[in-house]
Amino acid sequence: MVSRLSQSWWHGLFIVLAIASAGALTLISLRDARREAQPPENRPIKSQIAGYVSSNACRSCHLGNYASWHASFHRTMTQVASLRNLPNDMDKVDFVFDGRDYKVERRGNAFFVRTRREGGQYGDARQVVLVTGSHNLQVPWLETGEGRTLEQFPFAYIVAEKMWAPVSETFLISPNLKEYYSIGAWNGACMDCHVTQGQSRFVKGNKWDSQVAEFGIACEACHSEGREHIERNRDPIRRFKIHLTSKSDPTMTNPSKLKGPDSALACGECHSVWAFKNITDKIDFNRHGTGFRPGKTDLIQRFVVQPNAADHSEQKDFIRKTEPDFFQNRFWGMG
Ligand code: HEC
Ligand code: HEC
Ligand code: HEC
Ligand code: HEC
Repeated sequence: MVSRLSQSWWHGLFIVLAIASAGALTLISLRDARREAQPPENRPIKSQIAGYVSSNACRSCHLGNYASWHASFHRTMTQVASLRNLPNDMDKVDFVFDGRDYKVERRGNAFFVRTRREGGQYGDARQVVLVTGSHNLQVPWLETGEGRTLEQFPFAYIVAEKMWAPVSETFLISPNLKEYYSIGAWNGACMDCHVTQGQSRFVKGNKWDSQVAEFGIACEACHSEGREHIERNRDPIRRFKIHLTSKSDPTMTNPSKLKGPDSALACGECHSVWAFKNITDKIDFNRHGTGFRPGKTDLIQRFVVQPNAADHSEQKDFIRKTEPDFFQNRFWGMG
């Protein structure tokens, strides 16, 4: 290490300075992540969860990875709604569906929606607070007055066709499904796969207090939580040493270094059909978020459902009994 440094003292000094300033940037962004002063009360919020520090904290040392991730649709999959990420003529559209009119108004940097039964009076304006999807389909979410519980706006925007359509006509869903725009669906279902380390936190009735480590699928969704990795790499000697030798750091998970099935599971946590192992695990997942971390060989509270495989037969029988359409709605007949 020392002899390498002295070979090219200036080169070494430059690298040390660069790394030191990267460390300072990291400290600043860690502090920013903790700051989010007065969090809004009408939607799910970004919060300090376990050892998650969010993508800003990775940027200073991994500029290239940050840039390629920033350009990806994983990042923009769940966003706090604003005029920048919704079609900004949304307030010019006549939305009518299932005997209801929806009037969209623009106020400052936000959209609000009023609803009425055809011919009746418009109700209170409700803010569009979150949006799911960015490049194929966008689904906006409304505040409900029940804490951080969201309700789906019943229309989705089809990006390629620049067109709004009822959500029920844009998703491949069973025609028997009646209650599609149910309040709390985002909190109870969508956030399981559409954020980084979400905690849906059911309160009571239909009230949720949902929090996420980061909106969208960010670094730590695929690499695991980063606090320890960053704290250890504040030490420039350690950083310099591993950068010049192994280029590898056991405090972080690199999916390309995992065994095939385990690296597939790091993506399959979201890109698969899974189910909870039992009600206790479901409650735990709801409270604390997933216990799975990339690199683990098992989804912990959940399992990947394969209709014809031999595993989890008790759980699969339970699903067949309580949700008879489960397999038919998700798999071809041969499994
Ligand atoms: C089991 C995990 C999972 C759950 C639960 C889930 N999604 Fe998704 N969703 C995905 C994946 C994976 C994709 C990407 C599929 C693809 O591109 O082929 C996706 C894609 C989407 C897209 C298109 C994104 C874009 O940028 O165009 C929208 C919109 C969406 N989901 C909405 C929802 C809503 C609304 C819910 C809750 C009712 C939900 N999802 C629940 C995994 C999930
Ligand atoms: C959707 C999953 C996913 C997300 C999100 C993601 N990565 Fe990765 N990352 C991977 C995979 C898979 C590999 C290994 C394959 C490869 O090297 O391309 C990897 C490799 C890496 C590596 C080691 C190899 C290299 O290129 O130097 C670093 C460092 C890294 N990612 C940092 C980040 C950072 C920082 C972010 C966020 C700004 C991020 N990643 C977001 C999946 C992800
Ligand atoms: C203070 C600097 C620093 C910060 C901040 C940082 N890393 Fe790293 N990271 C390193 C160093 C040093 C390595 C060793 C490899 C190298 O230098 O090329 C590394 C390696 C990695 C690897 C590859 C591990 C392997 O064994 O292949 C991944 C993945 C990674 N970092 C992800 C992240 C993520 C995600 C974040 C944010 C949560 C982050 N890093 C923040 C310094 C940092
Ligand atoms: C925490 C959940 C989660 C994890 C982990 C995750 N993804 Fe995704 N991924 C999604 C969702 C949700 C979408 C839909 C986003 C969209 O298309 O806007 C998506 C979209 C994609 C797409 C489609 C992008 C497009 O252009 O439509 C690909 C490909 C993909 N993911 C691959 C991966 C791979 C490979 C990994 C693992 C290295 C991974 N994902 C890990 C949730 C996840």
